[in-house]
Order: sequence, then structure tokens, then C-alpha cells
Amino acid sequence: MNPFLISTKCPMLFGCGTSMTVASKIQELGCKKVMIVCDDWLSQQENFKAFMNTFSEVETYVWNHVIPDPTDISVEEGAVIARQENIDGIIGIGGGSSLDSAKAINTLIHSDFPINQYFAELGPDAKVPNPGVPMILIPTTSGTGADCSPSTVITNTRLNNVKNNLFVPTGIPDLAVVDPDWAMTMPPKLTASCGFDVFSHAIETISSSCWNPMSETIALKCIDIVWTYLERAYHNGSDVEAREYMHFASSAVAVAFSDSLINLGHEIAHMIGARYHIPHGDCCAMVTPACLKFLAGKLPVEMGRIAKTLGVDDREDGLGDRLYDAVLAFRKRLGIMSASEHGLDKAEFMSMADDLSSPVFLSYTMTADDYRSILADIISE
Ligand SMILES: [Fe+2]
Repeated sequence: MNPFLISTKCPMLFGCGTSMTVASKIQELGCKKVMIVCDDWLSQQENFKAFMNTFSEVETYVWNHVIPDPTDISVEEGAVIARQENIDGIIGIGGGSSLDSAKAINTLIHSDFPINQYFAELGPDAKVPNPGVPMILIPTTSGTGADCSPSTVITNTRLNNVKNNLFVPTGIPDLAVVDPDWAMTMPPKLTASCGFDVFSHAIETISSSCWNPMSETIALKCIDIVWTYLERAYHNGSDVEAREYMHFASSAVAVAFSDSLINLGHEIAHMIGARYHIPHGDCCAMVTPACLKFLAGKLPVEMGRIAKTLGVDDREDGLGDRLYDAVLAFRKRLGIMSASEHGLDKAEFMSMADDLSSPVFLSYTMTADDYRSILADIISE
């Protein structure tokens, strides 16, 4: 076994209704005036108003200007307000964009602007921010796992409009409050899309070059959960048990991929998302069957474990085709569109093979021809 690091990122409080204790939790962390970071839509909802009513001892400032795929500019605007308001605690609530915005604002609250100087893409030139303030994150969708992952995704508008990552201590909350009540109102399409994001995070944890047995254990359990509960949550949003398990898996697999980092599926999905502006989870769903088929030929032992978890025959002979068929059928049952249903041009789609690089954290080195074989499967579905 190769040496590995298991890093426990933050405590997670899980359960229906737990977010109603956040006001007292942030007070226990010594905060007197907290910024609630969310989007405008959430701030209008009745459950958000009920949540805000739990704050009596702690002063709040609701910054509801989160935008989808937050940019360097948008999070800096939030940080300016946080400083002006003398904020001493942050609560991020919402989907991945809101949680990433909260993390970025925390990164800037005691550190120099711009946010871009802390991007991991700068390598050793990336600056390290000063410590931030106490932070609690509350996911309202079952998908990104941003509450339990150490990365913060921010679009770099000052350079090339590409999504960059912050891997900074200020992106790790003091507490993740994973309350499935918030996920109950996710519409079916969003449920399916976010659920496939969880599924792909779990699969890529298994194919990672930073594999470790604890991450694998969590990831296989999360694959089992998605396989068992995602369709139930998709068909019946009020299915509490299905919502609970999906919400748990979203955060739990983020703990797993914090150490065994995501790789092939997201490498392709991110490029599709950037080029065609298709939601992230749908991109993950688009690429996952073909990636499994490809990886079964390269990492048969690891893909066999996934097959076994799915109840698919895990013998090496024909493994890729069986995984492909099972997961493609799953995606279709969830009503997620294929690349051709999106109307993507085949030649343009295939040209991505020349622009994709081999994922740093994949246990196999990808070539352009490897990518061509995967992209050909995706565009032919
Ligand atoms: Fe993802």
C-alpha cells in the first residue's frame, strides 16, 4: 500500500431540524454579528425566514447576493460588506455556489484582496491567507459536498473566466450542519442532477491515485446509497428516508474525496460545462457511464468493486460493457439528457480530446486517443 493521508476536515452535525440549532452553535463559537451568505431566491423562502427567527442573541446581516458559479468579483463584493459590517462569524447556506462564496468571503475577511492571489492554480506562488472567522456551512442541495470539502471553486474573471480552486484553511468550516429538511423541496430534475454529482464523486474516489481504504469504504457506501435512494428521492421528494440518505451521502463522499481526489469524470465534465453551459451534475451524468466502461479496462479491480456494490457481475470479462449498460439505464430512468439530446455537434464535441489533459489524480495516464474513445461513446448515446 502506498502511504496516504486521512485528514478530518470538520465536524458534521447531521439530521432533520439540526439547522435550527445553528444560532446557538455560532454563538458558542464566540460570534456576535454574523453574515448569512445565500442567494436571493433562498432568502425569500418561508423555511429561510423560520431559520432566521432562531437568531435572537446574535446579530445577523443577510448577504443574499450569491450568483451561480461565483466569481472573484462577486465574492470580493461580499467581503467588502463583511468588513464594513464588522462581521465576526459567517454562515453559508445554500447550494455549492453559496457555500463557496461563504468560504471565499472568509478567506478575504482578514486578508488582502484580490482573491486570485490565493488560487491553488498558482502552485507555489499561491499566497496563504490570514485566519478568518468562525464559519458554519449548511447545504440545501444533495450534491456538491462543498460543506465538507476543503476546496472553494471561484471563476477567475481577471484571467480567463476559468473556474479556479482555493485550498486554504479559511475554506474549512468549524461545523457542517447537514439538515435534510432543506433538501425536501429540491425539484426532481435538480435532485437527479445533484445526485449524479454525488455518484461521480464516489466513483472517482475509487479511481483516484490518492486512494486510501477509508475513502474507499465511504465511497462504496455512498455508491450504494445513490443506487438505492436517488430514484426514490427523484420520484417522491417527500420520501424522508431517501432524502436523508442522499443528503448524508453528498457530504460524506466529500470527506472521502477530500483525500482521494476526483479525477477523470470531472476532468471531462468541467470542460463540457465550461463549453456548453450545462449544469455540473448533468455533465457528470453525461460522462459517467463511458468513463466506467473505459476504466474497467484499465482498473478492473477497482471497477469490479463498484460493480459488486451495484449488484452487477464483477468478473473482468465484459465488465466495462455491463457497468456502462447499468449506469446508462440508471441515468435514463432519472430523465437526464444525453449529449446528443442536448444537440451538441459531434465534431466540435470530439475536438475536446485534444484539449483535455490527463487528470493529476487518476491511477492511469490518459492520452488524446483514450479521450477520443470516451467522447465517442458519450456523443453516440
Ligand atoms: Fe462534482
